[in-house]
Amino acid sequence: MDYISAREAAQQWKISQRRVSVLCSEGRIKDAVMVGNMWIIPSDAKKPEDARSTRKKSEPQSTLRPFLKWAGGKGQLLSEIRKRYMSALDSSITKYAEPFVGGGAVLFDIIGKHDFKEIYISDINSELINAYKVIRDNVEQLIAELSVMQESFLPLESEERKVFYYKARDEYNAIKINGNASENQRKAVLMIFLNRTCFNGLYRVNSKGLYNVPMGDYKKPLICDKENLLAVSSALKNVEIVCGQFTDSESFIDEHTLVYFDPPYRPLNVTSNFTSYTETAFDDEQQKRLATYIDRLASKGAKIIASNSDPKNVDPNDDFFDRLYSKYKIERVEASRMINSKAESRGKISEILVTNF
Ligand SMILES: C[S@@+](CC[C@H](N)C(=O)[O-])C[C@H]1O[C@@H](n2cnc3c(N)ncnc32)[C@H](O)[C@@H]1O
Repeated sequence: MDYISAREAAQQWKISQRRVSVLCSEGRIKDAVMVGNMWIIPSDAKKPEDARSTRKKSEPQSTLRPFLKWAGGKGQLLSEIRKRYMSALDSSITKYAEPFVGGGAVLFDIIGKHDFKEIYISDINSELINAYKVIRDNVEQLIAELSVMQESFLPLESEERKVFYYKARDEYNAIKINGNASENQRKAVLMIFLNRTCFNGLYRVNSKGLYNVPMGDYKKPLICDKENLLAVSSALKNVEIVCGQFTDSESFIDEHTLVYFDPPYRPLNVTSNFTSYTETAFDDEQQKRLATYIDRLASKGAKIIASNSDPKNVDPNDDFFDRLYSKYKIERVEASRMINSKAESRGKISEILVTNF
């Protein structure tokens, strides 16, 4: 069989080389083969019919999952949230917004299940948003650089791994503090590398904004999850990705929009006060601001789902959210919290789901 490169196929079919790679990784080009980091394609292969469509309803999306482990990630609560969003999805809903996207567990779950015409995601964490944009716009180079890091890191002994990890962390912090836009690609590569190899997969910064998580001890971390990165890149193609406040989503949201809000948890007690996704905190005043914002969007006709911690886990008399969201449906569902690194404090607790439909 004769083969051509992905670049040649891209020229013949008048689509981008990246799109050709995505089609190959989705198994939509028969007999395409990966050689090293490159796809090669039988020279008589036909351009898939819908090669230019970016989101295909029938695409298998089971491989689509968050590319970062993120504190507060909704993996645990996903089936409960899914039950609710499925009941909201009808033909009137054509838009989806997730203003506190984090690792995007719900985003990547919902994205293949409904034919959204427009999707908006945002987060206040500029590093996270940079990673989303790099994956959307330049995934090939990201994969190439991450593969090099993986191949260099995995064969090392534990002491050598430490040297490698802390060098990567220093480089990341140097770019984070003093870097310019030309280093955004490298910053995303380092962020994913650190997230995959650090202790507990956390993103946490100190008061100076420096990423300070120590190395983890995974034997064989999957640093470059190529298949998922390509699938994520493809799924993000037409998504509006914004670094900003949750309220920046206001002009996007209308009566055709389903919105999922997953703000930082209201801390259950002082020791569980995890507020270090960024250098700014999300206190009770912010929770109230969010509730007022939700009221505004609900009166526009948007369908809303919001999740949070349940203060009643530690104080049965604490009805903060019951009062804040008294006009909506409030349900308590079971989840196991993973924020605290101590195994004994990861028991089952209830969390709150608020819906207006
Ligand atoms: C609980 S996490 C979201 C987790 C996400 N659902 C997941 O599956 O990974 C909350 C997110 O809100 C972001 N955030 C905090 N304050 C914000 C604000 N004022 N506006 C927008 N995003 C904010 C944090 O950076 C964090 O990523």
